[in-house]
Amino acid sequence: MAIQIKTLDQLKTMRKAGLLVRNTLDLVKANIKAGITTSALDAIAEANIKRGGGTSNFKGYHGYPATICVSVNDEIVHGIPGDRMIMPGDIVSVDCGAVIDGWHGDAAFSVIVDPKDDARQKMLDVCEESMWVGIAAGTAGAKLSDIGHAIEKYTNEQGTYGILREYGGHGIGTSMHMEPHILNYGKPGNGPTIEPGMVFAIEPMITMGTHKTRILEDNWTVVTTDNSHGSHFENSYCIAPDGKPFVLTEVDGGKANLARFGIEVSALLS
Ligand code: MF3
Ligand code: CO
Repeated sequence: MAIQIKTLDQLKTMRKAGLLVRNTLDLVKANIKAGITTSALDAIAEANIKRGGGTSNFKGYHGYPATICVSVNDEIVHGIPGDRMIMPGDIVSVDCGAVIDGWHGDAAFSVIVDPKDDARQKMLDVCEESMWVGIAAGTAGAKLSDIGHAIEKYTNEQGTYGILREYGGHGIGTSMHMEPHILNYGKPGNGPTIEPGMVFAIEPMITMGTHKTRILEDNWTVVTTDNSHGSHFENSYCIAPDGKPFVLTEVDGGKANLARFGIEVSALLS
């Protein structure tokens, strides 16, 4: 199976889905505070996706019961919203996706509820920056494995963190998860060449301790085996027909962050 190549018109629809995902994540983020339940955050996301003319791609995905994933502390990804109350000092990771006219968007962020501590905040910052490093490494002409290599190299330069190995990024388009699978580690120079029309979700997941995880009895929630806390950031980006990247799930298309790497984003999607 080949990597799906999108036309400019299709990318424009994916941009709509990406902006709805970002808008929903921003709204959820604004509502994260001690005392709110994770299911209340889910309801906020569900209503916002509906208001924006989209549908959830998480709900019903292999039976997943909610609109977002909310993963707290040692939960790294795929936490199911429920009665759990957010507490002071919690790391809250929120993953959200939406579909518009059959085209998918997918993004995630992590945040620490006050009081923050420097060590865990740095871990979040490293995770977020590693996502940008990965996107910057994944421009047209690069090899797919250059992305994961760049993520791993950057992360290991910043400290001793666990990088999840069983989960990674993915192609995205007419489905949320498409070829290729994108590792957050590995050797550079392998795999297909990155070309215009490709869209990838890049999503590093790192922890304060082990990279090893297990799945809770709910069959979804991924936690670290040593209970160390972790974080997860994700963006969906494309290579536009002009060969330049554009981050579909960022309001500015990734302009400011990619400029730090000397990369110009495409003007075709703004
Ligand atoms: N959006 C997640 C990812 O980043 C997958 C969530 S699975 C779901 O790939 F079932 F929760 F939707
Ligand atoms: Co994803």
